[in-house]
Amino acid sequence: MKKTLVIVAHPNLTTSVINKTWKDRLIQETDITVHDLYAKYPNGNIDVAYEQQLLLEHERIVFQFPFYWYSSPSLLKEWQDVVLTYGWAYGSEGTKLRGKEFMLAISTGGPEAAYQAGGYNLFSMSELTKPFQATSNLTGMRFLPTFTKQGVRFLTDEQVRESAEELVRHLKLNY
Ligand SMILES: Cc1cc2nc3c(=O)[nH]c(=O)nc-3n(C[C@H](O)[C@H](O)[C@H](O)COP(=O)(O)O)c2cc1C
Repeated sequence: MKKTLVIVAHPNLTTSVINKTWKDRLIQETDITVHDLYAKYPNGNIDVAYEQQLLLEHERIVFQFPFYWYSSPSLLKEWQDVVLTYGWAYGSEGTKLRGKEFMLAISTGGPEAAYQAGGYNLFSMSELTKPFQATSNLTGMRFLPTFTKQGVRFLTDEQVRESAEELVRHLKLNY
C-alpha cells in the first residue's frame, strides 16, 4: 500500500459523528498517518516546515473534511495558502509534490440527489471540488477518485461504521 497521509480538518471533532468515526478507524491502520489539523493548531498558526516534511514522507495525500459552504473548513484553506508555496509546491523549481497522489474524503449534510443538475445544490461534487483538482494538477499530483458520504444526518450508527470500512478500502485501492 502507498504510504498515506490523511489530513483531517474538522473544527470540532467532539460534536462530529462521521469524521470522528473515520479518524478513529484510520488510526488503526499502520500504513496511514492521521494528522488532525485543528488539534495540532488550535490557534491556527501552522508550522509550514513541519507540514512540508510530512508531505515529503508520504506518497498519497488525502484531505478528509466535512463539506462546509461547498468547500473545506477554513483551516484547511489556510493550510493550502501557507504550505503550498511557490518554489516548493509550484513554479519551475517547485517540484516537491510532483508524482504523488491526491485524494479527497468528504462528508456532506446534503443528500446525493441534491448534488446534481436539478438538485437543490445545482452542482455535482465533482464540479464543486474542481479547485482541489486544479491544485492537485498545478502541484503535479495525480487526482484520484473522491470518497464521499452524503446525507450523513440520516445514517444509522451501523451505516456510519460501515462507511469507515468503505473509506479504508477506498484509501487502499491502487488506481
Ligand atoms: C458551517 C457549516 C457549513 C456547512 N455547509 C454544508 C454544505 O455546503 N453542504 C452540505 O451538504 N453540508 C454542509 N454542512 C453540513 C456538514 O457537511 C455536515 O454536518 C458534516 O458533513 C457532518 O460531519 P460530522 O458528523 O463529522 O460533523 C455544513 C455544516 C456547517 C456547520
